Amino acid sequence: MPRSIIAGIGMHVPENIYTNNDLTKLMDTSDEWIQERTGIRERRYAGRQAETTTTMGIAAAKIAIERAGLTPQNIDFIIFATLSPDYYFPGCGVLVQREMKMKEIGALDIRNQCSGFVYAISVGDQFIKSGMYKNILVIGSEKHSFGLDFSTKGRNISVIFGDGAGAVVLQASEDDLRGMLSTHLHSDGNSAEVLAMYNPGTHGNHWEHFADFDNDDMGKAFMTHAMIDKEQNFPKMDGQAVFKKAIEKFPEVIMEALNTHGLSPADIDMLIPHQANLRISQMLQKILKLPSEKVYNNIQRYGNTTAASIPIALCEAWQEGKIKQGDLVCLAAFGSGFTWASALIRW
Ligand code: ACO
Repeated sequence: MPRSIIAGIGMHVPENIYTNNDLTKLMDTSDEWIQERTGIRERRYAGRQAETTTTMGIAAAKIAIERAGLTPQNIDFIIFATLSPDYYFPGCGVLVQREMKMKEIGALDIRNQCSGFVYAISVGDQFIKSGMYKNILVIGSEKHSFGLDFSTKGRNISVIFGDGAGAVVLQASEDDLRGMLSTHLHSDGNSAEVLAMYNPGTHGNHWEHFADFDNDDMGKAFMTHAMIDKEQNFPKMDGQAVFKKAIEKFPEVIMEALNTHGLSPADIDMLIPHQANLRISQMLQKILKLPSEKVYNNIQRYGNTTAASIPIALCEAWQEGKIKQGDLVCLAAFGSGFTWASALIRW
């Protein structure tokens, strides 16, 4: 059975850097509060009309495809993970197909928020193992800055998120010593509303037990004037509930991956956790008893880029020479849904 290897990897972040001090001009917050709670010092925001989630994804994809020694015409399938797509529909995958002048290949969008990239490579891995495709482009990209509440009301969320994209080419390989060993995917919808953006959506206040809106505000359309007037078009988060569950599920899903192969945390050469919050990564490192050099963090510079955070961190770790052929690399994610996932790769 063929194995999936990461044949090429790339990333792209917008040029515009926004420090914590820049945010203090927009809302009541401080560099000290943000750094102490999240570890974030700065993040990137795409120009409002200059870049989209898709164009950033394409910029990362071009690098990944070139590093794989391929051209866009060699790609057999596109998987695009994002929660901030250019359009409500269709997804970003078809825009990638069009803009990169690819063949009329399949394009799939994945909506699994912070776990999106791990879900995406898992789906790609199944297509490769089944022999259906040889080269799959997997992109994680987000333009959060377009949908955040930058007033003091939205500060608990807006200070955390940043824009950017990462991409890999998953390639079929017959090399038994390398590639994706396994992926592990989970969800628990009981906490769907703990971290969510409800509108635009078709809920019509159906789930009022969880997310209570005024029935009179539910018009005939996805988005009503009332929703905008009441600023119900921004994400909502119970940060402490997310933190608690993340601390439980990150180690659990990493151990599940390791146990599947009779491995232990000491066997990991590089852990790339989703960059949710530096405190979560540090607790995870402590729980797994890993030295700092085996856990890659760059949330300090980019904030939480959701579906893009793992491929960006993986790309930087690789570019910095921290991942070498033969290394055991573990990817782990947790996020809105809740969904969580891990992947174990022999690089
Ligand atoms: N600046 C200043 N003060 C703030 C800010 C801010 N940006 N945001 C919230 N506060 C205030 C609150 O208003 C509150 O004030 P009060 O005590 O007067 O009411 C106080 O700080 C504490 O608020 P909490 O929400 O309880 O703060 P907490 O200590 O829980 O930290 C945080 C918030 C950082 C979000 C934390 O809960 C957390 O990290 N949770 C994990 C969530 C996470 O990582 N989310 C990322 C996305 S999900 C994912 O990727 C897995």
